[in-house]
Amino acid sequence: MKIAIVYSSVTGNTRELADVIYRNFLGHSVDVMIYKIEDFRSSSLNHFDAVAVGTYTWGDGEIPREMWKLYHAFERLGNKDLVTAVFGTGDSFYPKYCGAVDLFRDMLYVHTNLAATLKVELLPQIQDFQRSQQFVKSILQRHNDIEKYSNLKFKI
Ligand SMILES: Cc1cc2nc3c(=O)[nH]c(=O)nc-3n(C[C@H](O)[C@H](O)[C@H](O)COP(=O)(O)O)c2cc1C
Repeated sequence: MKIAIVYSSVTGNTRELADVIYRNFLGHSVDVMIYKIEDFRSSSLNHFDAVAVGTYTWGDGEIPREMWKLYHAFERLGNKDLVTAVFGTGDSFYPKYCGAVDLFRDMLYVHTNLAATLKVELLPQIQDFQRSQQFVKSILQRHNDIEKYSNLKFKI
């Protein structure tokens, strides 16, 4: 199974969360790569079985500018066999807490096979490590379900 983690981070919180998720994947026998958004080619989405998007939230619950290209690439791709997940950090001081995660979630649910979402308040804390493990498990489980289903279809 080939997985990409693609994230954006200015002050490091989302990068830290992306790292936690990356290290969780390493505990499973999967091929996982981690990319800063500027190093990821949106045209390569189809090369992966699963993509986990990491984003902070900007403005009034907005997606950061550098993440829009990726957002539109998912929309155009429209692949229900691509397992996706979105995670992010935000600050509950703002009315739209982790609003960018919600916006990605709604789009990914329509255009891909969305398996999990995860919101973390600023820098990940102890309790978030367990939540990250669950996030990773949900992605792996969804991929297994898709594989099982397509094998079944093949037999019929
Ligand atoms: C100008 C500005 C606007 C922000 N707007 C929101 C917001 O609407 N919702 C939210 O949850 N967090 C908001 N935040 C908080 C950041 O998303 C949060 O600090 C995040 O952890 C930053 O991630 P990073 O360290 O990966 O860059 C805002 C921060 C700034 C500076």
